[in-house]
Amino acid sequence: MRIVTSAQEMQWVCRELRGGGAVLGLVPTMGALHEGHLSLVRRARGECSVVAVSIFVNPLQFGPHEDFAQYPRTFKEDCRALEREGVGVVFAPEAEEMYPAGAVTTVSVAEVGDRLDGASRPGHFAGVATVVAKLLHIVGPARAYFGQKDAAQLAVLRRMVRDLNFDVKLVGCAIVRDADGLALSSRNRYLSAEERALALAIRCSLAVVEKMIDEGTRDADVLVCAGRRVLDAEGLRVDYFAAVDADTLLPVQTVTPGTLVAVAAWVGATRLIDNFLAR
Ligand code: PAF
Repeated sequence: MRIVTSAQEMQWVCRELRGGGAVLGLVPTMGALHEGHLSLVRRARGECSVVAVSIFVNPLQFGPHEDFAQYPRTFKEDCRALEREGVGVVFAPEAEEMYPAGAVTTVSVAEVGDRLDGASRPGHFAGVATVVAKLLHIVGPARAYFGQKDAAQLAVLRRMVRDLNFDVKLVGCAIVRDADGLALSSRNRYLSAEERALALAIRCSLAVVEKMIDEGTRDADVLVCAGRRVLDAEGLRVDYFAAVDADTLLPVQTVTPGTLVAVAAWVGATRLIDNFLAR
């Protein structure tokens, strides 16, 4: 497995691979890898001849009071796991490599980028879109893989790829959960044992709503209130609980198959997200 830290070298390596006929798959990550990331890698391995994984804690997508400094960095373990998964190339640039002094160009996806996490984390999705646009330019993959857990991120990136004619297929991959249902996240590492137990209310709130939908309730307000009640009962601070169109992230009145039901809530100082697509 080759580890590359320079953007220009990564561009050359990927150009050479494509020239030799490789179908490149890209899995962008911020490291602190867990089974969710590895499931993206496995899917990419099944569909592409060479898999590239980027590991970059992107400063642009963190707000001034967020956890950029504290974000777990486990580069050596990450590389060992990626090597075991048969990854071809790891791209691990420093911040100065991705954003050299004087870099002022950013990508911002209007409207959709200001909804859900974009509403509560101003500038977050511009940071994500900018770094992903750069990674797509550097690697030039045929396919790029993202977790459905970050459903709003996926909607923003799909819009960016469509609006800017990126020649890449974005593949959304199913959420991976712990045995008790908690969605895997690098931020789960922040949770104390007590918070870890409380965090299950997030999954529970979605399960309650999913069951109500399956039993025939389709009114979004009724469903959202029911989901919120579960979180309120556990004393979790809700950032949003919403039923939205999965592409535009605009609220819906009636839940139909494909509606995104998404939640973000604080467990202590840790903000966690989860969601499902209605059947
Ligand atoms: O989902 C993530 O881990 C990040 O937002 C991404 C896509 C790697 C961009 O930094």
